[in-house]
Amino acid sequence: MKIEFLNLGKQPLANSFLTQEQFKNEFFFDLKVQFDTNTKLVSLVNFVPPEKMFNEDYAYSSSCSKTMADHFFNTAQYLMSYGSPKILEIGSNDGVFIGNVDPKNAVAVEPCANFANITRRMGYTTYDQFWTEDLAQQIVKEHGTFDIVYAANCMCHIQDIQQAFNAVNIVLNDAGRFIFEDPYLLEVIKNSAYDQFYDEHAHIFSIISLYNLLKNAGFRIYHVDFPNTHGGSLRIYADKRNAQEPEKVSSQIGIELGYKLDQISTYETFASAVRKSKLDLQFLLKNIKSEGKNIIGYGATSKSTVIYNYCQTDTKYIDYIIDTTPAKQGKYSPGVHIPIVPPTKHITCDYAFLGAWNYKNEILSKEKNRDFSFITHVPRIMII
Ligand code: TYD
Repeated sequence: MKIEFLNLGKQPLANSFLTQEQFKNEFFFDLKVQFDTNTKLVSLVNFVPPEKMFNEDYAYSSSCSKTMADHFFNTAQYLMSYGSPKILEIGSNDGVFIGNVDPKNAVAVEPCANFANITRRMGYTTYDQFWTEDLAQQIVKEHGTFDIVYAANCMCHIQDIQQAFNAVNIVLNDAGRFIFEDPYLLEVIKNSAYDQFYDEHAHIFSIISLYNLLKNAGFRIYHVDFPNTHGGSLRIYADKRNAQEPEKVSSQIGIELGYKLDQISTYETFASAVRKSKLDLQFLLKNIKSEGKNIIGYGATSKSTVIYNYCQTDTKYIDYIIDTTPAKQGKYSPGVHIPIVPPTKHITCDYAFLGAWNYKNEILSKEKNRDFSFITHVPRIMII
């Protein structure tokens, strides 16, 4: 049974930064979140058609961030330590990971044609299609099976996730490893980070839910770790061995059970915390404005789109958003249409809402001489 527990209202595509001419045709959908009492999977109630989100206009480029580029370089070095494995990457984006692997040993899958063309030009065979069992069969016919299947911030985008895991089983050889990472549900719950729920994130995974889904697809989880990316991620290591989960995996499942991630009551409590977070933010922003002070946004993230739309925070409160990504500059944020501008050397404002809270440490150190204060909603509304 699926139980809806959170309603974040009408939301636009979170990563779809737009021009004024595009305002009138902007797409909105009802962003609601549900819990499946059978699989324990947390998912959106209404999925947006994938072609609307992942196409040749897709704006998120993993290489733009040094933190992410370093993360993928280190991941590739680690995977190479298995010898010279033959690797399939699902969701290769602009090649930030696969670019570290010899093209002779790697195949990429990336439905966004703009990015697929980049990895092709880098010399990688790239399938610009969505990940399905049919595609898996085709790849096996053309390339045989693989030693490693890797996916970063991609599996949680795939709506029919059971089918996606079944498809991985098709391409992976019997001794192969399936390694993937996505935002971690436990961090979302602990931090009231409800902005991890948006159109692209069809699911937010716990280990408990993945244990169930992967088992159905013929996998067991042999290891887990927790990259410090995207506000707190979970990386799963799975194989096809018919063996017991090691202690580290069962103890982390024990921790999740301690947080009751298998029970609907946890999600209902989380939803109350989210509603409180909204009221607290609205109260704080109103107070700041009533003192005649100004507020900007820091980082035009997909996550901040969710906050601004859910909390009805438009240009009445936020004058503009600064962001380092050239493709976002000169555009407007989805839904509430706050202008996005490049950061200046010296930022002049009274307060900046930390939209890019996933880079909090990097940003606080960069702005250590600031003469403004940050506002964040993670783990609760506060001023830094
Ligand atoms: P991202 O991490 O992709 O978040 P999401 O997945 O929610 O979209 O986005 C981070 C954004 O923050 C990106 O547009 C770049 C911007 N940014 C800055 O403007 N300044 C900074 O110092 C950092 C670290 C990021």
